[in-house]
Amino acid sequence: MEVIVLPTSADVARRAADVVLAGLPAASGTGPHDAERHDPVLGLATGSSPLGLYAELARAVEAGRLDLTRARGFALDEYVGLPAGHPESYREVLLREVCRPLRLAPDRLFVPDGSGTTERELASAAVEYERGIAAAGGVDVQILGIGANGHLGFNEPGSSLASRTRVKRLSDRTRRDNARFFGGDVDAVPTHCVTQGLGTVLDARRLVLVASGQGKAAAVAAAVEGPLSASCPGSVIQWHAEAFVVLDEAAAARLRNRDYYDASAAGLSESPTP
Ligand code: GLP
Repeated sequence: MEVIVLPTSADVARRAADVVLAGLPAASGTGPHDAERHDPVLGLATGSSPLGLYAELARAVEAGRLDLTRARGFALDEYVGLPAGHPESYREVLLREVCRPLRLAPDRLFVPDGSGTTERELASAAVEYERGIAAAGGVDVQILGIGANGHLGFNEPGSSLASRTRVKRLSDRTRRDNARFFGGDVDAVPTHCVTQGLGTVLDARRLVLVASGQGKAAAVAAAVEGPLSASCPGSVIQWHAEAFVVLDEAAAARLRNRDYYDASAAGLSESPTP
């Protein structure tokens, strides 16, 4: 796990974009996971945390450094029960924040289907979603935020570390946190969601978690330095072999091992000559 702490959220967005770009299969086939060439597959998070990162990736598209015309994007999660086209459904959010600015065709965006009205319908759509990710060859880079309660995607505290895409109930805390997207009305926030599981997230070849602001400091400390535990779903990143955590100063404020992370981020350049 690499923990990178930078002065501002703008710095976080820029560095995280570089880490995402470096994890995607290069057109020339020289990326880190290019033993078999394949079209890029991006794992997409919603929420406010990755918006700056998406804006940076859009700049890379404009500059010709990133081409997502053959890519696929898989969302982490979706609300259950919002009408099709609801502006706060994650499909609509990702069409707005990712597809248009990054020139990813809408039919290359995949979002868990939260339109089912029975547990059975929702469960079978979740299984289909897993099949879709597998058929695409798996996710190259999964972009992640983290909830103030440590949730990843919508995997609330108590989620199995091995879980797959499924229906989950949202915690009261998450519904309160997300009410801001629903005009401040907690009752307008759906009670359930379909979310990739923590096991699904772990299957991605690279994880890039971004967090900014002091409201995330406790969750970040628990995820990065706490015990690996279902009580903090974000802690599952410790189990991944290629996880990057990119933070601003405020989000990093409660990390105890900060000196080590800063020294590691400096690379070999500051090491004494043997
Ligand atoms: C949302 C999403 C998560 C996101 C988290 C944090 O509800 N389901 O994927 O990481 O909560 O959101 P934000 O970045 O707005 O703080």
